[in-house]
Formats: sequence, C-alpha cells, structure tokens
Amino acid sequence: MSRLILGQTLSFTADPFATPAAEAVRHERRGAVLVEDGRIAAIGPADDLRAAHPQAAVTDHGDGLVMAGFVDAHVHYPQTAIIASWGKRLIDWLNDYTFPEELRFGDPDYAAAVAGRYLDLVLANGTTTVCSYCTIHPESVEALFSAAEARGMRIAAGKTCMDRNAPEGLRDSPALAYDQSKALLRKWHGRARLDYVITPRFSPTSTPEQLEALGSLWAEHPDCLMQTHLSEQTDEIAWMRGLFPDARDYLDTYERFGLLGERALYGHAIWLEAREIARLAETGAALVHCPTSNTFIGSGLFRTREHAVAGQPVGLATDTGGGSSFSMLRTMAAAYEVGQLSGTPLHPAQLLWLATCGSARAMHLQDRIGNLEAGREADIIVLDLASTPAIRQRAQEADTLWEALFPTIMMGDDRAVAAVYVAGKPAPRGAG
Ligand code: GUN
Ligand code: ZN
Repeated sequence: MSRLILGQTLSFTADPFATPAAEAVRHERRGAVLVEDGRIAAIGPADDLRAAHPQAAVTDHGDGLVMAGFVDAHVHYPQTAIIASWGKRLIDWLNDYTFPEELRFGDPDYAAAVAGRYLDLVLANGTTTVCSYCTIHPESVEALFSAAEARGMRIAAGKTCMDRNAPEGLRDSPALAYDQSKALLRKWHGRARLDYVITPRFSPTSTPEQLEALGSLWAEHPDCLMQTHLSEQTDEIAWMRGLFPDARDYLDTYERFGLLGERALYGHAIWLEAREIARLAETGAALVHCPTSNTFIGSGLFRTREHAVAGQPVGLATDTGGGSSFSMLRTMAAAYEVGQLSGTPLHPAQLLWLATCGSARAMHLQDRIGNLEAGREADIIVLDLASTPAIRQRAQEADTLWEALFPTIMMGDDRAVAAVYVAGKPAPRGAG
C-alpha cells in the first residue's frame, strides 16, 4: 500500500555547518512524502505527487511541518525513572541515584516495563531512533530490543560493562563482559531494525583487562558501533588520571585497548586536549553533544560549532536520565543556549540537522534514517508550529520558515508533535 503524507516538508540537501543554512535545506510549502513498504518512495510538491499517485491513501497534515523523526544519539533508557534527580555532580549522581536504579534491571519484568514506557515516551516526543546504554544485565538488553522490535523501531543498544568502581551486583568481569556482549550481539545485531553497540560504560569503571576484552570483541565485529563516555567532568578526568597513570590523556585509555575507531561514539567530550582533538579528527569518530545533561549535572560547554565546522561527526542527545528531558526539541533549545554561552549561536537549521542527520551520521545510519529522501526508511514526524498559545502568537508574526520554527524549538514539547510514523506506519498516540 502507498501513502501520501501532506504538509510543509523540510529536508536537508547539505550539511548546514558546511553550507549556508538557507541553501542546505529544501522546504516545500505544500509538499508531500510518498511512502511505500516502509520506505520513502518520493518527496516533492503535493499536487505533483497526488497526480502521479492517485491510488495512494492521503493523510493531510495541513500546515504541519513534515520532517524526519528525531535521532537521539546517547541515552540510558534504564535511567528513565530517576530523570531530574536533584543536586549532585557526576560521580555522586552515579553512586546515589543511577547505580541503585540500574540494580533493578536484573528483573526482566521491571526491565520490560521501563523499556516499554521509555520507548512510548520518546515516540510521543517525536524520537524514532535512539542509541542506548542498557545495564550490566543481559535482561536489560533483551527488554529494550524486544520492546523496539514490537514497535518496529530502529534502535541501537548494548550491555553496559563495568568491572570496578561500581557496587556489588553491577560488576561483571573481562570474560563475562566479552561473553555476554558477544552472545547478545549474535542474537540481536542486524535483526529487524536493531543494531548491537559494544558498550564499556567509561574507563573509570572498567579495568584495563576489560577494556582490552571489549577492544578484541570490536576487532572481531568491526561493523558494530562502540559507545562510551569521554571527558565529561573535570573531577572525572582527575579520577581517570589516578586509575590510568600511564595514559597520555582520557582518549588514550580507550585508544590503547582498541576502543578508538570510526564507528566509535564518545558522549560529552567537553574537556578535550589538543592531542585528543587531533586523534579524533584523524579517526573520524563521533562526538555526542548532551546539552541538557551538561548543564543539569554541571559538566561544561561542548564546542559544537568548532567540532562540526572542522568536519568531526557530531550527534545530539538527551542523555536521559543525566539529561533532564526526553525531548529533542528541549535538547535543541539547550544546544542553542550552550552555543550562546560560548558566543556561537546555532542557526535553527543547524539545530534541526544535528537532531536528525547529524545524529544519524554519528551512528553511521545516514543512508537509512535522518532525512526525507527517496530510499530512506519512513521514520517521519509532523510538527505543529502553533502548539501552545505562547508559541502560536510568536509564530503568527513570522515572515520566514526559520522564524516560524524557532519558537517551537525553544518552547515546544510533546504537544508540538502532531504525528509520528515508524517505518511508514502511524505510531499510536498518547502512549507516553
Ligand atoms: N559517565 C559514566 N556513566 C554515565 C552516565 O550514566 N551518565 C552520564 N551523564 N555520564 C556517565
Ligand atoms: Zn551517558
């Protein structure tokens, strides 16, 4: 069956960090997306596509902005229930809030309940793909992949490995990390729309032996992504230095164990040194900006424009639950504010690009998701650019698309997400 989704359509033709924003975008005031078999078959003016495909079922979203679903490149779904926990910096926040909650995920029923709740929350916020950490427990990975498969979503995730500096019950070992990750990878990687991600939490909670074991696993499965944390807080960096006295810098604690490569995603990456920036550029690894987390936990200001203009792949992420929101709109707003604090205001096109194409590229999924383009998977959202009285009165006065859109980026929430399509099928509303 084919379906025509009508509205204002917005897609990217270039990277707005490399091309002037206005030239990087294709905007059709009255546009349409043709969806067939879960994929985008065509995009163009509504009248043309209607005439060419008279048999297609039509869903008209009026003035709604039809665009690619959001891609959240760094989340911890097991932290759903502790989001917005008060008053701690990273290490205390992990010990006091995160680890006690993560201990609960050995129970498959609890893991399944949170995984379903989490995916429904992100869908309600217009996010159709996430790259998630799970917990030490294989059950937590099973729960997320099963919930994603049931919803037809494209999800990447992995078992979070730790063998030191974590409480009893949240520690594995080098051999267990390797064996359990490998078994999960074999079962889930490439099944339905799911990808396995090799996931050492961060070097302070892994021994060199564990990092080496996971480096070996990645060498055996180089088509997998590898995700971890890098240079988030200054106290964390001081801790890492005490644990790895021979390392040249934080990145070296990964590099020396085979955990640096093009398919790596490093969350936060705020306090980078010159050697690290140079090595990351040579490698083409992705940096993931987590702005609501970096302000909420008090970590620092990520240099988005510098890294993106230099050509480093940069993704955008909520970092739920260190981040204080499930919404990529809220996350774009925080990225804008962090840019302002660094003297580099990001254009709305750059914010939207980071939340879709940028994150998709960071996850090496740019040929599948993240943009409205023929051949891509039909993960599509519709934004209502007048979703609240405050936003409406501002948008009504807009002369350009960007003026109309920016109030929704800054003030919008799940009320602005008018519709969500996963692989071309409408996602149930109100589940979140
Ligand atoms: N560093 C190591 N683990 C975590 C985590 O769960 N959240 C954040 N924000 N940083 C981390
Ligand atoms: Zn994280």
